Parts: sequence; structure tokens; C-alpha cells
Amino acid sequence: MDGFHTKNKSLIFATNNANKLCEALSIMGDRYTIKNLHDLKILVDIPEPHATLALNAQEKSSFIFNLTKQDCFGEDTGLEIEALNNAPGVKSARYAGEQKDPIANIHKVLNELQGIKNRKAQFKTVISLIYKGQHHLFMGIQNGLIADVPRGSQGFGYDCIFIPEHSTQTYAEMDATTKNKQSHRKKAFTEMIFFLDNYHSSDIHQNLDLHST
Ligand code: IMP
Repeated sequence: MDGFHTKNKSLIFATNNANKLCEALSIMGDRYTIKNLHDLKILVDIPEPHATLALNAQEKSSFIFNLTKQDCFGEDTGLEIEALNNAPGVKSARYAGEQKDPIANIHKVLNELQGIKNRKAQFKTVISLIYKGQHHLFMGIQNGLIADVPRGSQGFGYDCIFIPEHSTQTYAEMDATTKNKQSHRKKAFTEMIFFLDNYHSSDIHQNLDLHST
């Protein structure tokens, strides 16, 4: 790790989601200055119109890069449930409609899984980083199971129905530190941090396919 080059790198996180920002700050530590759209007074809800998480993540980073010309990243996350042919996936935010209501989304998932024994699922986070004007993609996956009923009051989104592998608790039953130790977001951010820390040997990075990720 190159402490000299990584000290106080400043990045814009193209999000309005306070929960995602909070997790990012705790994962990135104090070697990075992370600003979100609220900090920059950029009052937009960047659209997520695409068929893959990677394209949506890139939509967010490109939108902010075009506006600011600064190093920035966007992320898109989806819950993929095996028995539902990987739905809600890229449609996770709007699964029960345009109002993006997390409770309605959870109800829809649990209704569709009623009576189904296969509860296997994964959370997938894709980050699109624009660093020194170049695009880079990073991904983190956490396998787990969908609970029969919502459990816990921490976290956000689908946290109360997702039980990560090797745990008996849902994310919403864990404290933030425990979730952030092994989550999909932690894994994707760790990939990005590794890239940034090793920027001068960036040839070790293999980029992901935008259209299938
Ligand atoms: P997006 O990445 O903001 O489009 O989020 C997609 C959907 O997944 C939204 O409904 C979020 O609330 C939900 N979501 C994103 N990340 C997480 C997470 O870490 N835990 C639970 N739900 C999440």
C-alpha cells in the first residue's frame, strides 16, 4: 500500500442516498475525502434507465463527471433472487413501482416467494469510478438467503429480509460495523480502494463488461 499517494484523495460519490454515503464513509476511512451530491448542492435524482447495474453506475459517474470534471464514482446495487430468475436485480429500487417504496418492494418479494423453499439470493454492487478522466468498474457480491419475514430495524432497503451467508441474522439485525465488514458494498469498495492505492501499477486492473454486469 502506498500511503503517500493515497493520502487525502478527494472523490465525489454520485448519490443522494444517506445510507449508502454512511456505509461508504465507514468503509473508505479517513484517507479519502468523500463528498456527495448534497455537499456540492447538486440537486438531481440521476436516472437509472439501463438494463445492467454497470450501465446505471456509469450513468451516475458520467453525469457528475460531465458537471464537475472531478474524480467521482457512482454505484448501483441489486438484489438477485435465484427462485425469481434473479429479480428484482437491476429493478430493485422500483420493484413495486416508481414510488421506490422499500416496504412495498419487500412485500412484493415475500409474496412472490411464498411457499418457495429455495431462498438463495445475492446482493451485487457495481461501482463506476472516473479517475483522472478514465472509467473503471468494480463489483462486490454477497451471497445469502431471503428470510421468511422481515427481521431487525437497522440498515435500509432490503436489509431486513437478507441473511448473509455464515450468519443467522439479517443485515437489519446487525450493527453497521458488522454489516460493513462483509457486505457486497464493502467488497466493491475494497476493490476500488485497492485500485486507487495501486494506481501507479494500474495495469493489474481488469475492467468488467458494462453490458453483462
Ligand atoms: P440503488 O442502487 O440505489 O438503485 O438501490 C436499489 C435498491 O436496493 C433500493 O431499493 C435500495 O434501497 C436497495 N439497496 C441498495 N443497497 C442496499 C443494501 O446494502 N441493503 C439493502 N438494500 C439495498
